[in-house]
Amino acid sequence: MWRSGGARAAIVVFLGTLAACGGDRPPTEHSTPAPADARARGESIYSVRCAPCHGASGGGDGPAAAGITPKPRNFRDPDFWRGRTVEQLRLVVHQGKPGTLMPPFEGVLSSAEVDDVVGYVQGFRPAS
Ligand code: HEC
Repeated sequence: MWRSGGARAAIVVFLGTLAACGGDRPPTEHSTPAPADARARGESIYSVRCAPCHGASGGGDGPAAAGITPKPRNFRDPDFWRGRTVEQLRLVVHQGKPGTLMPPFEGVLSSAEVDDVVGYVQGFRPAS
């Protein structure tokens, strides 16, 4: 008697597990739209890799900025954005900027991570 009951309970648990996995549908908590994910990834990369120089809110005033010449860029400055393309931003993050302390992130960040962090930096662009 306990055996069949146990087997039925096991099946219920098994079906419950299947339902939790959602079959071909991703579970609800992971169905955040991609742009929000990219932004969250960009933000965490930025806060570790860029904020020490460029500042947590992009003002070019991170804790390391004081000792740096030329100063890290201020992403809040409308002039910075004039004529600047996403390709240029990606390139400079990959290769760094010769003659400045802007380091190359080639080999440190993947291309996808560079895209994410550049996307995040674009969020500092002031409306103008
Ligand atoms: C060690 C300090 C430092 C770190 C860390 C750093 N930067 Fe920079 N960054 C600079 C300096 C210095 C410049 C050059 C400013 C200038 O040209 O006047 C610069 C310039 C830039 C520019 C503008 C380049 C141009 O075309 O003028 C971008 C975009 C940029 N950084 C993005 C980033 C991103 C994204 C990160 C993190 C992945 C990062 N930086 C990390 C110091 C830093």
